[in-house]
Amino acid sequence: MEIIVQPDSQAASRIASRIISRLIREKTRPVLGLATGNTPLQVYKELVRMHREEGLSFAGVTTFNLDEYVGLSPDHPSSFHAFMARNLFHHIDVPRESIHIPDGQAKDIPGFCRRYEEDIRSSGGIDLQVLGIGTDGHIGFNEPSSSLASRTRIKTLTAQTRRDNASSFDGEEHVPYHCITMGVGTILDSRMCLLLAFGKKKARAVAAACEGPVTAMVPASALQMHPRAVVIVDGEASSGLERADYYQWVYAHKPDWQKY
Ligand code: GLP
Repeated sequence: MEIIVQPDSQAASRIASRIISRLIREKTRPVLGLATGNTPLQVYKELVRMHREEGLSFAGVTTFNLDEYVGLSPDHPSSFHAFMARNLFHHIDVPRESIHIPDGQAKDIPGFCRRYEEDIRSSGGIDLQVLGIGTDGHIGFNEPSSSLASRTRIKTLTAQTRRDNASSFDGEEHVPYHCITMGVGTILDSRMCLLLAFGKKKARAVAAACEGPVTAMVPASALQMHPRAVVIVDGEASSGLERADYYQWVYAHKPDWQKY
């Protein structure tokens, strides 16, 4: 795991945007795994800016989103479909048919999940998966106790996650109980994982994910098993890390050829 501590979320998001834009510029048909939530918002803003001002084209990009709430239509304002349209897809040139987001209204959920996995495979696999982290250590919507080998499937949200996500809804009672999410195993198949975490409320989850044991009780800790996982945090989210000074020293002394 490479852990990069930055003074604030803007600096962290700039590094993440550089990693993503470089992949898009260098690879002919890059496949991006995308996340929702507040955490990647500045990255999406920066990618939109690069598209408008620096000619970054998404015409050859294929995207797969991590998750969606069961029962929400794509135009429900709290759906992840609507979130992605609002914050990224409406502002860039990614072709509509290259965008994949789990269908919260699928009638046959297991069949849909199987096809989602097949679509990821037939696109050549995900080159780079963007991730946030839940306060309970979830990635995607893989809540504590999720199998570390899990694939795309239906999951039940914890009370904590429903509380955390209530601000995107008209009150907690409107937050769905179920979601479709890529599995931890699906995420680990990506060629690179890029996890972002900002703010004090993520400090415990970040410490457990990066320095705790690999356990299904902290699904993000599975990234310790990934050969290319980069974790970029701001000062507050790094505050529970025992070896923060070491990670900072390593990053400051990276040779030029390794810099992002
Ligand atoms: C959501 C999403 C995750 C996201 C996490 C953190 O529930 N399913 O993909 O990383 O919670 O959200 P935020 O970035 O708003 O803190």
